Amino acid sequence: MEEEMSKISIFNHEELKHSFQEGFSVSRILAETCPDVDLNLCTLQAGHQRSFPVYSRMDKMQIFVFTAGCGMVQSGSQLFAIDEQSVFIPDFDREELVITAGDADLEMIHIVGPMNDTDRRQMDHCQYVLPRFVRFSEAIQYTERFTQESGAKVKQHSIIAGRHLGRYTMGWVIGQGPDFVGQHTHPSLEQWYFMLQGADFTYDAGNTQIDVKEGDVSFTPHGTSHGSTCREDGFINYLWFELNRAWDEI
Ligand SMILES: [Fe+2]
Repeated sequence: MEEEMSKISIFNHEELKHSFQEGFSVSRILAETCPDVDLNLCTLQAGHQRSFPVYSRMDKMQIFVFTAGCGMVQSGSQLFAIDEQSVFIPDFDREELVITAGDADLEMIHIVGPMNDTDRRQMDHCQYVLPRFVRFSEAIQYTERFTQESGAKVKQHSIIAGRHLGRYTMGWVIGQGPDFVGQHTHPSLEQWYFMLQGADFTYDAGNTQIDVKEGDVSFTPHGTSHGSTCREDGFINYLWFELNRAWDEI
């Protein structure tokens, strides 16, 4: 039990310190949780534009999550309007990538992770087309069996489905209190939660209870039981990001 507790890592939103250069601030968080995966909390100030490095499919994948503000993604000749919470996955290094903030600061989660043979094989099989831009309101709603069976009312959405981006998946869970996500364990998934607007609930993982709020980020390693509970005046609202280790030696 003691051992399990120590495995949960939390980034508290109050620890975030902005340091702007040319209208852009980036903070790497939870670097110790999974050294291969870079999690960056970024702010692009209103009216600013920035080009981002792109990586070959032999090297790294990247995901941009726009959690607040508005703006535009330019990928080669394609334009995508950021007019609500949304996710962008570039087409590796095939096109240049420029992000512009509109008349409000653009808040982003930027995730960069290594690509391996498993990722490339799965992506080839499912023929997922990149670049991909997914608005949260367009994400596919589904219900996990354990959620349905437990009577929880939270709405679950798939943003990046299994195999589409190899071992990496992403989804969004939202529910007004009182509500809960029942305890469950993923034997092979490393799991991060990014608490979104208005989040106010208790994350119960590895036998420790943590009150989380908007801007907090948690890391839960594979094989750790976890669930969430939310009081009547609380709010469950988080984005989850997972790395599936099923094909790794763990
Ligand atoms: Fe889970």
